Amino acid sequence: MPQQPIRIAPSILAADFARLGEEVAAVTAAGADWVHIDVMDGHFVPNITIGADVVRALKRGCGLHFDVHLMTAPVDRHLQAFAEAGAGTITFHPEAEFHPHRTIQTIRALGCRPGLALNPGTPTAAIEELIGDVDLVLVMTVNPGFGGQAFIESQLDKIARMRALIDVTGRPVDLEVDGGITPETGPRAAAAGADVLVAGTAIFKAGAEGYADAIRRLRG
Ligand code: DX5
Ligand code: ZN
Repeated sequence: MPQQPIRIAPSILAADFARLGEEVAAVTAAGADWVHIDVMDGHFVPNITIGADVVRALKRGCGLHFDVHLMTAPVDRHLQAFAEAGAGTITFHPEAEFHPHRTIQTIRALGCRPGLALNPGTPTAAIEELIGDVDLVLVMTVNPGFGGQAFIESQLDKIARMRALIDVTGRPVDLEVDGGITPETGPRAAAAGADVLVAGTAIFKAGAEGYADAIRRLRG
């Protein structure tokens, strides 16, 4: 299915962690479409961030779709907790589980939308057999683990190739980009075929009074 309307998903990794609930409310009021939550385990990636209890607490005060990006290995043992916490989409990295197809089935059985994430060094072929089974593909435009990194230009071509693979399925699979997304790189990623833009630094560095403008500028 062709590209869908652009949706903006602020990554709360760049928010003020002492005021997370207020930050989520502020980006909601500022026009965010989804809330992107980066879950890091200190094993699959070097950093440790947010667990399911924090997601549950935030979801109580927010009606937006929660887009949970699991950067954990393994994946399966965490799925139920994040589903019960209110995750809408649960995206994982195929390198992190031996049987990614089974993981996709588990996510769906838990009532969530399954997504697959590609690291910059992971080829589209790694998930080609699974595109028909997921609702979202995430092309990482930085190496996962930290916010505030520079956009990796070579991934634009991968986004375009992924767009073509999704179009062939005829299914409404979201094509999301994550990492180094700014008012300059976001519209270029969208031109290459992305339809969900994750942005942490570009939104939260603007300060609460600047969130609406930052979100608008990402739409290009
Ligand atoms: C990186 C995370 C991203 C990150 C994006 O591992 O998946 O979501 O927070 O941050 P920025 O927009 O600052 O590159
Ligand atoms: Zn992310």
